[in-house]
Amino acid sequence: MDSKNQEKSGFSEVRRAARLSIAPMMDWTTSDCRFLHRLLSRETLLYTEMVTAPALVRGGALHLLEFHTDEHPVALQLGGSDPVELAEAARLGAEAGYDEINLNCGCPSDRVQSGAFGAVLMQTPELVADCVAAMREAVKAAVTVKCRIGVDDQEPEKVLPDFLDKIRSAGCRRVTIHARKAWLQGLSPKENRDIPPLDYDLVHKMKAAFPDLHISINGGIATLSEAKTHLDRGLDGVMVGRAAYHQPADVLCAADPEIYGTGSVSEPCQAVRQMLPYIEARLGEGAKLNQITRHMLGLFAGKPGARQWRRTLSEGACRAGAGPELVEQALAQVADRAAA
Ligand SMILES: Cc1cc2nc3c(=O)[nH]c(=O)nc-3n(C[C@H](O)[C@H](O)[C@H](O)COP(=O)(O)O)c2cc1C
Repeated sequence: MDSKNQEKSGFSEVRRAARLSIAPMMDWTTSDCRFLHRLLSRETLLYTEMVTAPALVRGGALHLLEFHTDEHPVALQLGGSDPVELAEAARLGAEAGYDEINLNCGCPSDRVQSGAFGAVLMQTPELVADCVAAMREAVKAAVTVKCRIGVDDQEPEKVLPDFLDKIRSAGCRRVTIHARKAWLQGLSPKENRDIPPLDYDLVHKMKAAFPDLHISINGGIATLSEAKTHLDRGLDGVMVGRAAYHQPADVLCAADPEIYGTGSVSEPCQAVRQMLPYIEARLGEGAKLNQITRHMLGLFAGKPGARQWRRTLSEGACRAGAGPELVEQALAQVADRAAA
């Protein structure tokens, strides 16, 4: 092993964590959200929202890289299409302490298209390979890609293997595939997460064709048991987005024992109690309670008292001066309902 590869052997921990990951979601997977998710699972790999390379490199928006040390293992997702700029953004991300730098090749929003990055990059695999190579050159942290199976009228069976082959040649060892196409015209980003049909089998075929690539599947996976089915069928990882956000306890509480064979099932009430000092500290930094509690609304989804929990937090957290005592009050109501 040459020295660069030796340095990169430290990747194995993040690679292991990637058996289950929580998807990058703009405005949702903020640092506050990730802190909560980390209380529910010690092991799961967490992704940031997408941060654009131009914002970091040209805009100097380094505050976008801030995170809490308890979030590890945590991956920074970058948006961009300029290899030089992405390399510099990756370097800034690695310097900030991220365990992985991920390139977004799956996001179809207009804003992202106009910057010629995101899902539109599925049409230019050579450029993606150049970006990956430049980012790898700049950092020791793992450089990974999140992509779709294709865009518009591309034929996924043809373009996806070519795409994977090219990024693998550039040194990418881990990829997450959102198992549906993106339609670059005519569908909103939200529709693009639901309307193009899912093709899980194609992702499984890619694992057979690229056995040395660590492949995670993404899209429409709603429970831990569905995730386990994909792992049992031979995929290396599963990425969960919306379900983990809306029902974090269902996806994350049993993840450590069931997916990684470590620890025990975590407890949402306990996580809320552990959030209290964090909330206090964040409010001290000038954050608003609602900024934090909006990510906690789904914690008791499907459990007794869930509605009361949501209502107390959503009605109270915007009020001036609202603090951790509101969260304690909401928690007491859940405990009362659970005991009833
Ligand atoms: C609110 C929201 C924001 C998202 N933002 C991003 C993003 O910044 N980068 C990205 O690669 N995907 C983004 N996605 C897509 C998710 O990462 C994921 O690929 C998609 O939701 C499908 O997974 P799911 O069905 O498990 O939710 C976003 C999804 C949602 C719901």
